[in-house]
Amino acid sequence: MSLLEVKNLSVEFSTPDGTVRAVNNVSFNLEEGKTLAIVGESGSGKSQTVFAMMGLLATNGTATGSVKFEGAEVLGLKGDALNAIRAQKIAMVFQDPMTSLNPYMRISDQMAEVLIHHNGISKYEAIKQSVRMLDAVKIPEAKNRIRMYPHEFSGGMRQRVMIAMSLLCQPKLLIADEPTTALDVTVQAQIMRLLADIQKELGTAIILITHDLGVVAGNSDDTLVMYGGQVMEVGTTEAVYATPTHPYTQGLMSAVPRVDVVLDVLVTIPGNPPNMMNMPAGCPFTPRCRFAIDKCVETMPELVKTGGDSSHLRACNVAVEDLV
Ligand SMILES: Nc1ncnc2c1ncn2[C@@H]1O[C@H](COP(=O)(O)OP(=O)(O)OP(=O)(O)O)[C@@H](O)[C@H]1O
Ligand SMILES: [Mg+2]
Repeated sequence: MSLLEVKNLSVEFSTPDGTVRAVNNVSFNLEEGKTLAIVGESGSGKSQTVFAMMGLLATNGTATGSVKFEGAEVLGLKGDALNAIRAQKIAMVFQDPMTSLNPYMRISDQMAEVLIHHNGISKYEAIKQSVRMLDAVKIPEAKNRIRMYPHEFSGGMRQRVMIAMSLLCQPKLLIADEPTTALDVTVQAQIMRLLADIQKELGTAIILITHDLGVVAGNSDDTLVMYGGQVMEVGTTEAVYATPTHPYTQGLMSAVPRVDVVLDVLVTIPGNPPNMMNMPAGCPFTPRCRFAIDKCVETMPELVKTGGDSSHLRACNVAVEDLV
């Protein structure tokens, strides 16, 4: 049994203009203590995939399929049952810490509240544990800093506070949705190293969501590539990097920014993402794919083995050897 087993997860939003199919039949497993990176450009369904797992979809959203955590179904849980999973078992760190931190509360009170609520310990003990956690995420002088307000921290430090907060209840799974996007490259690298250290020490599994392939290499065990709400390619990060077998992944790879040049992701793949309201019958990447054949217009290919490493899968109608 894997720590997390996601099977045929789909998310639909009903809007006045029609149904938005944001996530379509996504499946993956995550083992204890491992890191899965979910990559794909803006709007590809990365966040909604994990929001569905956490019961965080907007009210016009519906999720179907199955999400098993430690063997138990969590999709569709509500109220106390859902709260018991959140924070205690699965915690989440968002892109912009300011949206999750209360600007009017001292960090000490915000952190202590989490522990008092979930573990029922005294405020004194809660503050002590919170300081220890801030130390763990390398906030200097945590003992004094904990009394500050969020705006008194830099962006990178705020992200550390968020990570510390999410780890307070020692979750088995940490979901980090673009945790470093708003930060500069040096701080990004520090946060990624911090996550790796925490994982080693606490054995936390991590889902790392990013549109930047540059942060995936060296920071994840497996990589799942999404486009138009679907899985295009998945495998060990090593295999996906060494031999990308989907034209979309290949495009992403060639768009990885170099240290000396600032590039927008996907500059090498012309065209726009699909309209999720009118998803094409075939592969959503077809209009932008330079290898597309007739079949691609009508048929969305199944996710099947690439022929390489046995866990390496791809969803593409074009033979691997023709992708040159
Ligand atoms: N409440 C909603 N109603 C309608 N459509 C929605 C709603 N929430 C999200 N969507 C749509 O779902 C799709 C997937 O969104 P999602 O947030 O998962 O993208 P993402 O891959 O996380 O992108 P980004 O990198 O920009 O965060 C998008 O097309 C988005 O517009
Ligand atoms: Mg997102």
